[in-house]
Amino acid sequence: MSVPLLKLNHVSKSFAGVDALSDVSLEVSPGEVLCLLGDNGAGKSTLIKVLSGVHKPTRGSVEVEGRPVVFDSPKDAGDLGIATVHQYGGTFPLMSVARCFFVGKEPTRGVWPFQYFDKKTAAEITVREMQKLGITRVTDGDRLVGSLSGGERQSLAIARAVYFGAKVLILDEPTSALGVKQATHVLRLIMQARAHGLAVVFVTHNVTHAMAVGDQFAVLIHGRMADDFRKGERTREQITDLMAGGEAMADLEAELAGLTGSGNS
Ligand SMILES: Nc1ncnc2c1ncn2[C@@H]1O[C@H](COP(=O)(O)OP(=O)(O)OP(=O)(O)O)[C@@H](O)[C@H]1O
Ligand SMILES: [Mg+2]
Repeated sequence: MSVPLLKLNHVSKSFAGVDALSDVSLEVSPGEVLCLLGDNGAGKSTLIKVLSGVHKPTRGSVEVEGRPVVFDSPKDAGDLGIATVHQYGGTFPLMSVARCFFVGKEPTRGVWPFQYFDKKTAAEITVREMQKLGITRVTDGDRLVGSLSGGERQSLAIARAVYFGAKVLILDEPTSALGVKQATHVLRLIMQARAHGLAVVFVTHNVTHAMAVGDQFAVLIHGRMADDFRKGERTREQITDLMAGGEAMADLEAELAGLTGSGNS
């Protein structure tokens, strides 16, 4: 057995009386996609924030490559190769694409103290790395991030993670705001990252997207791990029912049919 890249041991996180996470343990290894499923408010983003150094766990611990770590900031997690694309924000609409790609890692020219941001090189690298991921319509590194589509923005963030040698790629709901074609594109990127040997944590409440790429699955309900299984061990229906809080979808459909007064329309 290989050592997991990232591991959570009995992690709990409370916010002023609200238990967002209770006793969650999970791990992800190189070349594996862990899908984190759960309904709104289940604690998925909170878990991602613990993994990426935004929040400290109230209880429990985090391990990277078998060593216990305490992240004081997202930078600490980034320095250990954990790249996170958060659910909201994270990009800067008025920043150029190249600037955003290199934020915090600017290539410089010249000798200290005369170094300056090398815009030309940065733009070339950014456009090239995006093209490697199939984004061919962004040909100018000076374009503003705010002018990119949702899928292009996701690609920019993923290209950045891969380029700077991340070991773990964490994506919080990357497909939820995207159309079918762009969501498919992001799923393809996840598979590419996996093939590069990255560990991927993919948060979604889309069971179809999860089943398309996941090796391992974890379902959170009210901050607790409700189920934990590997590819092929559950049917789509079982997962959907679990996420709906154990209420069989068939029952729900029958109830809705009753409300609308029609059996099937
Ligand atoms: N900073 C915070 N302060 C107080 N409560 C919070 C904070 N962050 C999250 N919570 C609460 O913790 C719970 C879990 O929230 P979280 O954002 O992790 O859910 P989620 O699974 O990501 O949901 P969604 O699918 O809607 O993104 C919610 O009840 C939320 O209100
Ligand atoms: Mg969330």
